[in-house]
Amino acid sequence: MKVIVARHLGFCYGVTRAVEMVEKLARQPGPVFTLGPLIHNPQAIARLAEQGVHEIADVETITTGTLVLRTHGVPPGLLKKIEDKKDLTIADATCPYVKKAQREAQELARQGYQVVILGEANHPEVVALSEWAGGAWVVNGPEEAVSLPPAPRIGLIAQTTQNPETFYKVRDILKKKTQELRLVNTICLATDRRQEATRQVAEEAEVVIVVGGKNSANTRRLLTIVRQMGRRGYHIEEAGELQPGWFAGVSRAGVVAGASTPDWIIKEVVRKMEEMEEKRLENSEGEKEAEALPAEAAEKGPQEAGAGPEQPAAQEPAPETATAPSGETEESGPTYESTFGELKPGDIVKGTVVKVENDSVLVDIGYKSEGVIPIGELSRRRIEHPSEVVKVGDEISVYILRVEGEEGTLKLSKRRADEKEAWKRLVEAKETGAVIEGEAIQEVKGGLIVDVGARGFVPASHVGRGYVADLSKYVGQKLRMKVLELDQPRGRVVLSQRLVLEEEHEKRRKETWDSLEEGQVRTGVVKSLTDFGVFVDLGGVDGLLHVSELSWGRVKHPADILKEGDTIQVKVLKLDKEKGKVSLGLRQLLPDPWEKVAEKYPEGTIVPVRVTRLASFGAFVELEEGVEGLIHISELSHQRVGKVEDVLSPGQVVNAKVIKVRPAEKRIGLTLKDVPQESQAEEAAADADLEVKPEESVKEEEAKE
Ligand code: F3S
Repeated sequence: MKVIVARHLGFCYGVTRAVEMVEKLARQPGPVFTLGPLIHNPQAIARLAEQGVHEIADVETITTGTLVLRTHGVPPGLLKKIEDKKDLTIADATCPYVKKAQREAQELARQGYQVVILGEANHPEVVALSEWAGGAWVVNGPEEAVSLPPAPRIGLIAQTTQNPETFYKVRDILKKKTQELRLVNTICLATDRRQEATRQVAEEAEVVIVVGGKNSANTRRLLTIVRQMGRRGYHIEEAGELQPGWFAGVSRAGVVAGASTPDWIIKEVVRKMEEMEEKRLENSEGEKEAEALPAEAAEKGPQEAGAGPEQPAAQEPAPETATAPSGETEESGPTYESTFGELKPGDIVKGTVVKVENDSVLVDIGYKSEGVIPIGELSRRRIEHPSEVVKVGDEISVYILRVEGEEGTLKLSKRRADEKEAWKRLVEAKETGAVIEGEAIQEVKGGLIVDVGARGFVPASHVGRGYVADLSKYVGQKLRMKVLELDQPRGRVVLSQRLVLEEEHEKRRKETWDSLEEGQVRTGVVKSLTDFGVFVDLGGVDGLLHVSELSWGRVKHPADILKEGDTIQVKVLKLDKEKGKVSLGLRQLLPDPWEKVAEKYPEGTIVPVRVTRLASFGAFVELEEGVEGLIHISELSHQRVGKVEDVLSPGQVVNAKVIKVRPAEKRIGLTLKDVPQESQAEEAAADADLEVKPEESVKEEEAKE
């Protein structure tokens, strides 16, 4: 006896996803509940119960733990109620196809369509769908559709497990009842495929074993198909129910299963049937060996013995389904069939992020169901959680990795889409010289690694305009670069920030030169300090601020007043565009102390002064910063003075009397004659915050000078 296993059977995508989700949750601490049975299979449910997953009928019976929403989805009212239970964690195992149908139903209602659902009115999926549509008309087939009242705009949507043929029959009826019919094809082919596979098996086999929960409607439907085709069919839930008598005299037996039947039960059934056959062969002496199973395994159509349930190939051909006659669903948007036919691995399409989970992201690309981006396909960089890269509502480009299985499950990659788009941008940027941005992510020997959608390298000599000693300070910063070299097959991208900076600098320099004029007051940044002055960056042009132009008073070194990086205002004193020289002044922007000299120091005033330097004809003294006067040698004493240094020394503070003031010539004459010294000078120095230096220290300073 050959055992023929259906090409399509067992868990569909939505159920696989839900069961895996629950098993994962069960391994974590805390109780896990499902609202109703997760799937219609008692054995699978029992297995989950052993793992600590409890089924509840009413959400009011729990307050904490994790509540799993099953594949059928829940109505919005109930969802709100669940969400209001703040101590409850929700794990949404609603099948993505169902989820999408809910959104479509909601959208139809929002746009003012009377929503009609093709489905079983009491099925939880339809109950929820109807509520998402704000109250829909539900019909179970063309017969019920006939009795619907007319409506100006009708939106037809289907329970995911409906038959496409029935869907289009209902469409034909509704077309006569409305001026505008909008179709939204939400049919999932998993059920249809399993039914079609059952017909194939029933055509070849004399007996067909239908495996699955007795409470599973889709499994019972398979049994009906088998019997309608005139074959003997037996419905079992597990291998232990198989009876050898069913196979007496049978040369070909088939195995089919609904979308809620676990793989391990199907495998057990097939193994048991093979064991029965082996025993039968052993017992029937003289009988010829049964046809060798492997010889048949390559037959077309259904799979043969021992192969177990088929795992759909990654790039299985597009499933067949009823297609709307052309021109009839213009308003219905892309149907499942049309969109499926257009997508293939390697395509890049736009999509919207509809859900961010811990290890993946769901993206709506206008296909039958959302596609899944695993966390590793989100970014080129290592991330802990998808929310580091995307959020719900983001529009992103995705690369189609695979269209899997009969349901056309999409595996997507954002990372690869970004890389492809990045390479496109890089090629364009190289051709046009455009500037591209990217973050420096790592310092390596000889340069920086940057993320420009692809991995790029900036040589150290191309990081800044000049030599950059410490590249690490650029890590984490956004760089603006030009493409120097591209080698796509080798994934090599070499970039330069220096070219961008130089171009910008040249542009700024020209603009600054064109706008500079003598007498202007400009803002600049102190670039460097020297003994003779300060270089100030005026915007691509460096001007020299000579030490003598820093202050009205004497400045020993520019560092006494300014430091690198200071932003200052300066006056443009002189321009030499030919030589590219700019002379700047700072003191010109400060008040001139000579303006108030006549008022502050009228003749006869006695003031403390500091000796700044000595000359053969007298001593120069400072009255205040920027105001110097002269005590002529003849004014040092009533007696004759041979040398000035016999009386005064640099740095010394003495009292002197103003005897002549000529502000216009910046001259003040002073005398020491008849001016009290010593204690008065000290007091005056203290008042003026001047330090009267002891003679020794003055001498030390002189020696230094
Ligand atoms: Fe989803 Fe289709 Fe299964 S709608 S739960 S994948 S039958």
